[in-house]
Amino acid sequence: MNKLSQNERRAVILKLLSTHKQLSNLQLSNLLAVTTKTVRCDLVKLEEDALVKRIHGGVTLSAGLDITKYSFDAMLAELIQHHSLSSSVEIDSNQGKLKKMKHNVFVLGSFNVDIVANLARFPQPGETMHSSSSSIGAGGKGANQAYAAAKNGANITFMAKIGTDQFSQFARQHLSSTGIDNTIIIESSTSPTGTALIYVSEQAGENMIAVNEGANMTMTAEDIYSAKPHIINTELFLTQLETNFDAIKLAMEIAKEHGAKVILNPAPYHNRIPELLPLVDMLTPNETEASLMTGIEVTDLDSAKQAAIAINALGVTSVVITRGGDGVLLYENGQFTQVDALKSAVVDTTGAGDAFNGALVAELAKGKTLHQAAKYANAYASLAVERFGAANMPDASLVAARLNA
Ligand code: RIB
Repeated sequence: MNKLSQNERRAVILKLLSTHKQLSNLQLSNLLAVTTKTVRCDLVKLEEDALVKRIHGGVTLSAGLDITKYSFDAMLAELIQHHSLSSSVEIDSNQGKLKKMKHNVFVLGSFNVDIVANLARFPQPGETMHSSSSSIGAGGKGANQAYAAAKNGANITFMAKIGTDQFSQFARQHLSSTGIDNTIIIESSTSPTGTALIYVSEQAGENMIAVNEGANMTMTAEDIYSAKPHIINTELFLTQLETNFDAIKLAMEIAKEHGAKVILNPAPYHNRIPELLPLVDMLTPNETEASLMTGIEVTDLDSAKQAAIAINALGVTSVVITRGGDGVLLYENGQFTQVDALKSAVVDTTGAGDAFNGALVAELAKGKTLHQAAKYANAYASLAVERFGAANMPDASLVAARLNA
């Protein structure tokens, strides 16, 4: 994450105090995404310069300080341009508050490097097979979903944790080329960037994936708190399960507490999913995940409906079961809606679910109904499976033609 320098934090603190008169160390720590110890050091310096007066657990402006002679707006504009207090959060110059922009989406998730082998069919145990082609590319369910959402016009903040290995630069380059508005990239000094070994079979473009999540699994509570100013300013919060479970849960709690709609794509399946469900507004499992969650083997529309009812009974308001070539089943307010699959020339299904989830959240952020958003996302995913590579997201401009085909 881009951190503010001490001088920049001082400017923000003075700006906030110019309208709030008094702030606690905790409020400043949350707003600036730094520890209360850092806040205390900043305040000591500001007090030495006679700009503020520290009071018990907080701070006020120094009596008699003429704040109007300081030009903070130019400084703040520069901060917004260069730092992660960036486009998803605005500083309201009248209120001195961080305020919500429209259509904010926060995606917490993984970045992985995908190492892909294309094969005529999947190998048997013990078999060595010729691969027709192989590639190394960007992936990770979180990064893929954030990219798809950005491609579909959502205002995205994406948070992930990577290593300090040779793949970390690759991650940064990829994420900076995606059009995601704001990235919070944390580095782990102990674990490598996540990797996924993927077989793609030429038979219907199916895939088999083995993920080593690496640094994604080292996300800490402190990392999440550092992103709190962004999470609390979001309207839609989307995550998956390739990140450390406790960090996901904490981020969801913060998002929920501050009024965000929480969407969980429960992939890959995790046996602690029930712990998250009280925090989830919308769940988007595929058939396998829906089966594992409910014990109902989802093989057709009827069993998918039973699984949707069972998930809803666990406290999830909206259930979206993606069924590959059989479309998407929606269950909300006691009503089922089926979105039919669209014809496509499938070459690689890797990342199809990510394309769907990213496009879905982008459409929901634009105010579309669940049915409208799912119909659009279903078309977007049908375009994604016609391309090789999980992070090879299609342009949104192609969707209209697919829907009208
Ligand atoms: O959903 C596809 C993704 O799953 C791949 O990009 C791979 O990294 C795994 O996380």
